[in-house]
Amino acid sequence: MASLLRFLGLAASVVSALTIAEINGSKFLSPLNGQNVTNVTGIITAKGSDGIWLRSPTPDRDARTSESVYVFGRTFGANLTVGDAIVVGGRVVEFRSNKDYIYLTEISNPVLERRVSSGNAVNPLVIGKDTAAPPTREFSSLDGGDVFAVPNNVSQISVANPTLDPMKYGLDFWESLSGELVTVRKPKAVSKPSNFGDTWVYGDWKVTGRNGRGGLTMTDKDANPEAIIVGNPLDGSKNPATTKFGDDLEEITGVITYAFGFYRILPRTAIKTIRSATPALPASTKLLSSGKCDGVTFGAYNVENLSPTSAHLPDIASHIVEYLKSPDLIFLQEVQDDNGPTNDAVVTANLTLTTLSNAIAAAGGPQYSFTEVVPVDDRDGGEPGGNIRVAYLYKPSLIRLFKPNSGSSVDANEVLAGPSLKFNPGRIDPTNEAWTASRKPLVAQWEVVGNNGTGAGQFFTVNVHFGSKGGSSSIQGDARPPVNGGVDDRQQQAELTANFVKTILTQDPTARVITAGDFNEFTFVAPLQQYVQISGLKDLDAVVGIQPEERYTYLFDGNAQQLDHMFVSEALVARRGKAKALYEHVHVNTWVGRAAQISDHDPSVARLDVCG
Ligand SMILES: *[C@@H]1O[C@H](CO)[C@@H](O)[C@H](O)[C@H]1NC(C)=O
Ligand SMILES: *[C@@H]1O[C@H](CO)[C@@H](O)[C@H](O)[C@H]1NC(C)=O
Ligand SMILES: *[C@@H]1O[C@H](CO)[C@@H](O)[C@H](O)[C@H]1NC(C)=O
Ligand SMILES: *[C@@H]1O[C@H](CO)[C@@H](O)[C@H](O)[C@H]1NC(C)=O
Ligand SMILES: *[C@@H]1O[C@H](CO)[C@@H](O)[C@H](O)[C@H]1NC(C)=O
Ligand SMILES: *[C@@H]1O[C@H](CO)[C@@H](O)[C@H](O)[C@H]1NC(C)=O
Ligand SMILES: *[C@@H]1O[C@H](CO)[C@@H](O)[C@H](O)[C@H]1NC(C)=O
Repeated sequence: MASLLRFLGLAASVVSALTIAEINGSKFLSPLNGQNVTNVTGIITAKGSDGIWLRSPTPDRDARTSESVYVFGRTFGANLTVGDAIVVGGRVVEFRSNKDYIYLTEISNPVLERRVSSGNAVNPLVIGKDTAAPPTREFSSLDGGDVFAVPNNVSQISVANPTLDPMKYGLDFWESLSGELVTVRKPKAVSKPSNFGDTWVYGDWKVTGRNGRGGLTMTDKDANPEAIIVGNPLDGSKNPATTKFGDDLEEITGVITYAFGFYRILPRTAIKTIRSATPALPASTKLLSSGKCDGVTFGAYNVENLSPTSAHLPDIASHIVEYLKSPDLIFLQEVQDDNGPTNDAVVTANLTLTTLSNAIAAAGGPQYSFTEVVPVDDRDGGEPGGNIRVAYLYKPSLIRLFKPNSGSSVDANEVLAGPSLKFNPGRIDPTNEAWTASRKPLVAQWEVVGNNGTGAGQFFTVNVHFGSKGGSSSIQGDARPPVNGGVDDRQQQAELTANFVKTILTQDPTARVITAGDFNEFTFVAPLQQYVQISGLKDLDAVVGIQPEERYTYLFDGNAQQLDHMFVSEALVARRGKAKALYEHVHVNTWVGRAAQISDHDPSVARLDVCG
């Protein structure tokens, strides 16, 4: 940087004869931001609709400084060709289209000073070979080691402007290559395409969290910065909408940039699948009901805005019959009222649940009964007018509510002597402000038919759908740690729910309690850490030993992740004379293409011994 400091020392308004690396600098923001520069030499490596990418002919040895830069100018590239060496001037600008994004360094208002030569070799840098491999765990030095740490947004990249450490932090790595022409060898898709065709990939470099499908699963303090989006192709073609999670793609060459909140590769041309992940669909669950209290099966499924007229209702029914093998009791989330998103006073879901139950029977399953407590109109969030709520389906031949006594929308359930419930089913503290615009958990007490009166085969369930992550900032955004939308609400919701469970278990430490549903959070983030700590419940994934990489029910950005969980009381964990607890996530939705996806969540099934 000696030459740069000399130039700056002159306090000139125009800075001349800089290398691209000097313009880029070794931090996120350019030291020359806002200044005019002249006499910048580069070779054109790629052209886009709004500008060109220039690479320095005199690279430095500093891995932190990118040797390429974006030159923004709609008509600037018209008479120029990839391989031309040119000398340009212009203004160094830090650009972002949204205040929550990271800035992109670019040269704007470019003036072509000279074309030096044409036909220069333009070789992409092979990531992981000509460059280091991307870091696999952390995103930024500003995250304090945990991208999901609370509080969020303690600092911002645009303010702290840390010196890049591309060997350690993912954002620093991609920033240090921003503007470069790169090749990704043996790319594998780790997401479905977005509406715009954006698809996350990793290449033949070392990755962590790789699951059996080839995707990357987020684990504690490891949110996989080694994956990157492949965005809009430079040649105007469109990425396919059909790419699937785990697909092998043709080699990708393109330029690295930052846009819409993420580092991304703009490929020269559209990505192409060369081998689709197989089998196309997972096997059906192996967990079958024993038809007795020693092997009761529990399903859990976020059925994504299900209304009586939903086009996907018959497919949900066939998932329940074919892939979940008709569990004895099903925890449903996102059941809408009887006229779905029509925004009127209707709140009951009788018709929705009856229609689903009939569709299940028509698909060869049992005739389920159902129970719910209707929400207060427009108070539980979700799609406007839909009044989503949690509900239970159950096989009346095997299971029934113990002394049913339904609470109303606003009745707060209580644990009575027994333990038993004041309202069965009933909602947890529904008027507490923690549940503003969110679903209230539904507690129920059940008994296995044939064991009644004896206390054997009785159990409690809590069906949850905690507040959403809406309002989150990008994991590759300016705020560090990123804003985990709704985390404070979920913290309170977790505490209320856990304390309710604790009341049951304080009265009877051997009580059988199963809490399941869409917690909208990961087990390694504060709300769920609190949840298990207060309640004393066990994470069923850990109890049955599902590998951390295989714990996923949802795809978001470049990660497979687990929002849906089951937590069970100690009495349901294997012990002498008790059948082993079993649990599976059935990847019917994450594995298929966008068009074939029935819900945005995968369902899960457990088999538990609830005998006394
Ligand atoms: C940079 O150049 C533009 C003209 O291209 C001029 O308007 C502006 O004042 C210059 N800025 C500085 C800091 O010299
Ligand atoms: C432009 O840069 C070159 C070196 O890259 C230098 O020889 C030349 O003097 C510079 N010209 C001006 C006008 O600064
Ligand atoms: C280098 O330039 C690129 C392309 O304009 C930009 O995205 C990136 O932020 C710059 N890199 C650094 C380290 O400033
Ligand atoms: C491209 O070249 C043509 C012919 O030499 C010229 O008329 C035109 O202005 C040039 N366009 C740009 C954007 O430089
Ligand atoms: C993060 O905090 C800064 C400073 O208070 C604020 O300007 C910014 O909007 C916040 N970002 C997000 C995503 O909330
Ligand atoms: C909904 O069904 C329950 C029985 O499952 C019944 O008690 C209730 O009256 C029904 N509600 C409406 C509005 O039909
Ligand atoms: C269970 O209890 C109900 C009512 O208390 C009784 O009618 C029924 O016969 C009992 N069933 C069994 C299998 O004991």
